[in-house]
Amino acid sequence: MKIKFLAFFILHLSSLLEKEMSDFYKKILDNNKKWVEEKTKHNPKFFSNLAQSQNPPLLWIGCSDSRVPANEIIGAQPGEVFVHRNIANMVIHSDMNMLSVVDYAVNVLKVQHIIVCGHYGCGGVKAAMGNNSYGVIDNWIRHIKSIYRLHKEDLDAVEDENERFNKFVEINTREQVLDLAKTSIVQNAWKNGQELHLHGWVYGLNSGYVTDLDVNFSSNDDLDDVYQLYFS
Ligand code: CO
Repeated sequence: MKIKFLAFFILHLSSLLEKEMSDFYKKILDNNKKWVEEKTKHNPKFFSNLAQSQNPPLLWIGCSDSRVPANEIIGAQPGEVFVHRNIANMVIHSDMNMLSVVDYAVNVLKVQHIIVCGHYGCGGVKAAMGNNSYGVIDNWIRHIKSIYRLHKEDLDAVEDENERFNKFVEINTREQVLDLAKTSIVQNAWKNGQELHLHGWVYGLNSGYVTDLDVNFSSNDDLDDVYQLYFS
């Protein structure tokens, strides 16, 4: 009897979940229709104009976290921000995906600003502080662990775990801005006199506000000697 009840309960629960999923799927398709109506209400040519070209002044490199939507946070309209997201907003110098996005943004779109936006409560950064294995992702997280090793003394000095976590999020974001400045793409743009400013931000999941970490790079003179590239 108990097993029968349990089976019924599980079946009922799974059909409820299925319904919720299909409701969500239907909802997002409906949302798209409403969004198009809203956008074209005052400007019927909104999409046909956008389709001509894009000229965004900004490249956003952020975390994949669903709670950190690039466009929404900064009130950007379609066409205003070029976006790259990955787990923990990393700038890994051998990541072809990131390099291609940065190359296109800098050399074709000629963006003037690149923001690396980290966020408090980042699961990737948290995982890098611990020792649990999460599968393939461990190899991505390892890049963040290297940042910990680089700042181990400062980080270990923070006793409160949550404060240490927050500090690590900030440090990781700063390091990603630095790694971006080290790329040949960014250094070459600076050498050619292109206006290109790099920034590091941290987004607060609890507040919605961003904090500018004031890590501004606008020239390769700001880099350590060993990273400076001389272009002929
Ligand atoms: Co994150």
